[in-house]
Amino acid sequence: MMETQKTVHGAWSSRFAFILAATGSAVGLGNIWKFPYITGENGGGAFVLVYLFCVLLIGIPIMIAETMLGRRSQRNPIETMQILTEEAGADKNWHYLGWMGVIAGLLILSYYSVIAGWASAYVFKAFAGSFFDADAKEIKTIFNNFVGSPIQLIFWHSLFMLATMLIVVRGINNGLEKATQYLMPSLFVLMFLLVGYAMTTGSYFQGLQFLFIPDFSKLTSNSVLTAMGHAFFTLSLGMGAIMVYGSYLPKNISIAKTAFLIAGADTIVALLAGIAIFPIVFANNLHPNSGPGLIFETLPIAFGSMTGGWLMGILFFVMLTIAALTSSISLIEPAVAWLVENKGFSREKACAWTGGLTWVLGLGTVFSFNVWSDVTFFERTIFQLLDYLTANLMLPIGGFCIAIFAGWMMKSQHSAEELDMPTQAGYDAWKLLISYVAPAAVFFVFLHVVGVL
Ligand code: PFF
Repeated sequence: MMETQKTVHGAWSSRFAFILAATGSAVGLGNIWKFPYITGENGGGAFVLVYLFCVLLIGIPIMIAETMLGRRSQRNPIETMQILTEEAGADKNWHYLGWMGVIAGLLILSYYSVIAGWASAYVFKAFAGSFFDADAKEIKTIFNNFVGSPIQLIFWHSLFMLATMLIVVRGINNGLEKATQYLMPSLFVLMFLLVGYAMTTGSYFQGLQFLFIPDFSKLTSNSVLTAMGHAFFTLSLGMGAIMVYGSYLPKNISIAKTAFLIAGADTIVALLAGIAIFPIVFANNLHPNSGPGLIFETLPIAFGSMTGGWLMGILFFVMLTIAALTSSISLIEPAVAWLVENKGFSREKACAWTGGLTWVLGLGTVFSFNVWSDVTFFERTIFQLLDYLTANLMLPIGGFCIAIFAGWMMKSQHSAEELDMPTQAGYDAWKLLISYVAPAAVFFVFLHVVGVL
């Protein structure tokens, strides 16, 4: 039965294609924009250490589980949960998990698209030579003027959403595979060049120290939650993005090996971004905790003063935009796949509806940087609230449920068969992490934040 529906659902042409697309989903604004600024806000080294532990002990096992669930059912996340719940003889309510994922994806995309719009706008600023010989203060003014203008932000947000829709409309084989193929290697090269520049700032070691020497007195329970939430966010976990990509994965491919590769590449990009940015922060007397503007206030200084900086600035922001695009398509794909496969929508119509809705939601984020910057709920602007709700709450809760489902509901025989690990010890280690370690870690962090522990 599953085979016959594959024509509707599509399949990756190879393992490499899956790795590219999943890495494309994982590597994005989360690594280059968000990781540095939340690291800066949460005191550096200790935060980074917690984040790395979360990737290893929670992120990778859940990535394996999510890919596995998708591949087993070969369906969109909502249907995946329905089919696998039946197979496992579990409670029907599990399929709400698929729903939460779809909603989280659209909520994340609403602000993701706005920030990706900043990156696209900066391509043109770089091209126009706006950063040439500019000092930290001038660069900050450029940024403040830009985010202070709702019209400009709406323009770039609209353009980015449109680009996302155009790719998603074409379906996975045509749109997604090609986009990532050249991007990843080029992004790596550029990040290394930026690290090279950071070495010349005179504050290189101060930057490294900030990132890698832990000072646990700076760690609050909210920083631990943010670090854990970011492990989910950066690996695209907890909402069905990786599940939907896993559903396109051919049966003969090792899921575990692939998950390690993807998480490894993702972590390296984030660390490189940090290593490039913090030396610039310290060399220019900027503050690590300057928030979402951090990369836009630091990297242009480098582009404005280094040889070849004009070209590098353009290339960097082009790549950041493409990296964001390969993530944004995975944020919307679960919703689109569901509308197409279950509700009989054409791909065009599904894209128009989901894209339109996300665009409108995105206006909340646009205004939270200017006209509504004073409007707060629970002491957070709309952007901060959406970010907190999705990355810190919905993704970890989704991940927790995925872990419980894969570890406790699904029959071991089925998960062992689907994962087909080379050794029994490998399977046992995964089973231990997914059944006990990952859910317990998420649970304890939550208890800590609400003040029970
Ligand atoms: N992982 C992406 C990033 O780091 O930019 C963001 C993301 C994509 C989060 C897809 C969640 C997701 F499902």
